[in-house]
Amino acid sequence: MLAARCLLRAWRSCSSAPRPTAGPAAALSVRAALAVRSPGGERVKVQGWIRSVRSQKEVLFLHVNDGSSLENLQVVADSSFASRDLAFGSSVEVHGQLVPSPSKKQNVELKAEKIEVVGNCDAKTFPFKYKERYPLEYLRQFPHLRCRTNVQGAILRVRSEATAAIHSFFKESGFVHIHTPIITSNDCEGAGELFQVEPSSKMQVPEENFFNVPAFLTVSGQLHLEVMSGAFTQVFTFGPTFRAENSQSRRHLAEFYMVEAEISFVESLQDLMKVMEGLFKTTTMTVLSNCPEDVELCHRFIAPGQKDRLEHMLKNNFLIISYTEAVEILKRASQNFTFPPEWGADLHTEHEKYLVKHCGNVPVFVVNYPLTLKPFYMRDNGDGPPPTVAAVDLLVPGVGELFGGSLREERPHFLKQQLARLGLTETYQWYLDLRRFGSVPHGGFGMGFERYLQCILGVDNIKDVIPFPRFTHSCLL
Ligand code: 4AD
Ligand code: MG
Repeated sequence: MLAARCLLRAWRSCSSAPRPTAGPAAALSVRAALAVRSPGGERVKVQGWIRSVRSQKEVLFLHVNDGSSLENLQVVADSSFASRDLAFGSSVEVHGQLVPSPSKKQNVELKAEKIEVVGNCDAKTFPFKYKERYPLEYLRQFPHLRCRTNVQGAILRVRSEATAAIHSFFKESGFVHIHTPIITSNDCEGAGELFQVEPSSKMQVPEENFFNVPAFLTVSGQLHLEVMSGAFTQVFTFGPTFRAENSQSRRHLAEFYMVEAEISFVESLQDLMKVMEGLFKTTTMTVLSNCPEDVELCHRFIAPGQKDRLEHMLKNNFLIISYTEAVEILKRASQNFTFPPEWGADLHTEHEKYLVKHCGNVPVFVVNYPLTLKPFYMRDNGDGPPPTVAAVDLLVPGVGELFGGSLREERPHFLKQQLARLGLTETYQWYLDLRRFGSVPHGGFGMGFERYLQCILGVDNIKDVIPFPRFTHSCLL
């Protein structure tokens, strides 16, 4: 009775599985099967891929995984089930009874009554062997197969949990989720790193462009969020963004996911920074509590010491320094930089890394950048000369820049000046309109999702935290 209740509880925690009954076997994920605390012979069906096969005189042990957990489910079968097709990588459907396991390694095992090989696997030519550990660079050569390794499985489950945690953070804080467009006619950041969108064959229409205007893959949903922030006080978006940056670096992709938020009636960077720190810490705590084994695997095998580094980030308040202070710190540094630090010049990765170290490996907000370094929409601080804008970047250990944000210029007069200076007045008439019809002080930020995953898991190369990385000279699959 108790076991049946446990099974029911496990079934409830796995809503996709049908309710187990006394009749035909109920389909259960490996995760749900492993969660059954006191198994009592319940009949279930488990589907997945064989991770290992061990044959003893009269018994056959299979480890089956279906991607729902790092841990495999042990299937115990009579040796009469042994066949060449029951090999590493084969997909199987196992019917049987959940019983307590005599081994201390697991609480529960599946006593097989029927094993069906759904698709067999040519294990000899499969590029990975079970239990062997491969460098992440090696796995990267097999974008169609690497998700079957423990390490990629763990990273992708963390990615999925983090996505859900980010959505819950915003939902619980009262934000409205907006689907901003992928195809757009604006270059929000003004950096010209755009991929243009055109039909693959010549259209039989007289217009020069399919959309009548040049159209691009979005570099940021910010301007569309700003439109929305004229009607909703708190909005966010979380989707793919695209940048034609000619970079092979360990922190740049041509297609990456960005979490962006925009908040109306915000008058200080402090208020924005509170949300940024809250987003980072709450999401990370949720991930740590929902998939501890996956995070631990990454920390143990990819980045030893990362567990302590992450705890250090979580338990300390993030620091704040101004851009001017940052440049002074860099100028005083004994380190020789490839790009000598100078007021008015952008901070490079080497500078960001130095600053984070200087701040005791606690994430640090750098605020108030030179106006000339930043896009047209940032709010003029009214200081200088030279003038600065209310911009904020969050720098984190191991990665450098994780967030970029700012207060937006809500004053029509200042905004017109900036647009005129950059020759953008025509393009952004609609943006000026937003300032004419009930404008409010507002601000927002964007967080690179892959850089976030790199930061919490300690993964050195951004290409290993996205299922299908796209970067210069590479678009596999
Ligand atoms: O600093 P960025 O360019 O800011 C914006 O796009 C703003 N419009 C966001 C906003 O205020 N709504 O980009 C935001 C973050 C960066 O801090 C970085 O983490 C990430 O996006 N990022 C990249 N991640 C991977 N590959 C790239 N090529 C990236 N470029 C930026
Ligand atoms: Mg930036």
